Order: sequence, then structure tokens, then C-alpha cells
Amino acid sequence: MKRFFSVEDVIDVHDLIKDALLLKKNPYDFHHIGRNKTIGLVFFNPSLRTRISCQKAAFNLGCHTWVLDVHKDSWTIEMNDGNVMNFTQEHLKEAISVMSMYCDILAVRTFPNLLDRDYDDQEIIFNKILNYSRVPVVNMESATLHPLQSLADVMTIAEFTSFFRKRCKVVLSWAPHVKSLPHSVANSFSQWISKIKQIDFTITCPERYNLHKKFSNGAYTTHHQNEAFINADFIYAKNWSSYLDYGKILCKNSDWMITEKKMKLTNQAKFMHCLPVRRNVVVEDAVLDSSKYSIVLQQAKNRIYASQIIFLKMLQSLS
Ligand code: CP
Repeated sequence: MKRFFSVEDVIDVHDLIKDALLLKKNPYDFHHIGRNKTIGLVFFNPSLRTRISCQKAAFNLGCHTWVLDVHKDSWTIEMNDGNVMNFTQEHLKEAISVMSMYCDILAVRTFPNLLDRDYDDQEIIFNKILNYSRVPVVNMESATLHPLQSLADVMTIAEFTSFFRKRCKVVLSWAPHVKSLPHSVANSFSQWISKIKQIDFTITCPERYNLHKKFSNGAYTTHHQNEAFINADFIYAKNWSSYLDYGKILCKNSDWMITEKKMKLTNQAKFMHCLPVRRNVVVEDAVLDSSKYSIVLQQAKNRIYASQIIFLKMLQSLS
């Protein structure tokens, strides 16, 4: 594997999930492979899970890591080309080229600006990073996608369904939030779920919040949350800003919050969220604190093995 930008870089999603779950059972089986190898983790935006789970994954493979929080620890980076750099100190081109000489795999997080839809949709920044890097690149969340999260999510669903033994209904439900958030988790989740034929997938969101067709990929989308919840086996909650009125918050209606009453409409569904989550805004305490419903910690744990399987496949392709 030479890059991990999206699900399209994966040959077979089922095989990848199987390999990741095997690795979870024996996390140190490939500890030798990372000897004298370094993984660089570059963050243009904050993180808790992605940062630490990638470090733990690298440790399990015997790799060294370095981490750069660009805005706190480095020069001010110029992201645009051709500018007179009176106010920025180093161009992305030199920064990525240099950092990629200090590691064997470069993993990068860079969020969308949520101001210019075309700019974000074209993944201008991440494509530059792919172009400037001299080593394989891993997407730790870009303008439109968060594939490491989605791999952990589908692994979690696989564990709770004995590897998709029978058909299940998965619902991606929009939920309220106070800030304008990216579409990357929802886009990516939709992409990955669509690769698993045993899953019936429904998206529910307010009007003017439909995801881009490129990602929702023909999934049934309804603006009636209660209807979507009927017979659901998994409820994946996530906020995203409007795609049509790009980056805008058009709805703050707390009626969309995930509550125990709504979970009772489902087929004893499990509650999923990528975290961090705002309690009693996105989901009420009664759902998040219930071991009957919530599997968010299982998801977070799987972030380790999702990263580890991707790093492993990249390290194998280096040698
Ligand atoms: N879910 C997720 O990516 O968490 P962090 O933003 O904390 O990395």
C-alpha cells in the first residue's frame, strides 16, 4: 500500500477488516517490522484519538514516531502557491518535502476551511501533500474524508455482527451541534459502509443537509429521523454543517438529539459516535452512559488496530 487517502486505496474492505481484527488479537506479532522505521504524524488541527492511537499502533509495530502540532510547534505555513510570503514563514512544499525525509511513512491531518466548497471538495491541500511527500502518506482526516475512523467503525460493526453474519440496518443520523463541523466523518462512513453488501444503509438529516452524492452513493436519505430509526441495528450519530449552503448551520433543533426514547424505536440498536461528543447536545447521557446502547469506547479502541493494519501494509510494501 503506497498511500491511504480513502477507501478506494483498499483492494478488499472485507479482507482488510479481517486482517485488522486478527491483528487486534495478536497486536505484537509484527513488532519486528518497524525496526529502524519512523512514522511522522503531522497535525494542522487538534486531535486526541487519532494522535495517540497512531502512536500506540506504531509502538505495537516497533516503529519510532515523531509528532508535529504545526500551529503550536512550527513556523507559520503558507498553504497557497504564488503568494508573496510577507506574513507566512515556510511554504507547505518545503515543509512536507523536508518532513517526509525524516520518516518512512507520513500521516497528516488537515481539516477543510468550510468556506469554499469547490476548494475543499477538490482536496487541494491533501493533494499537494501527496505530491510533495517522498514517502507513503496516510490520511488522518482531510477536507472531505476520515478513513482511519471509518475503518475502526466498520471493524466495530463487524465485531457486533459476528462479521456481518446476517443483514443489518445501519443509520447515520445527523445530530445538533453548536459549531460548524466538517463532513469528513459522515462522508467517509458512507463510503466504507457502501462496500459491505450485508448492510442496509440509511442516512437521516434535516433538509439542506444531504451529503454530496459522491459519498452518499445512492443511500436512502430521509429527513424524518424517527422513521429512519425503526428496525435499526446501529445508530451512528454525527453532526455536519450544511453541504448545500456550504459550511452553514441551518438547524440547531434539539429534537434531533439522540435520546433513549428514540433508541427505543430501534431493534435494540447500538449507539456509535467517533468522539469527541458533546453530551446532551448530540446525545443524551442516558444513551452514552448505557452499556446496553453505547459502543463508542469499542470504536475508539479499534482506532489503534485500524491505524496499525494500515501502517503494517505500508511497511510491508517498503521492504
Ligand atoms: N475521532 C477522532 O478523530 O478523534 P480525534 O479528533 O480526537 O483524533
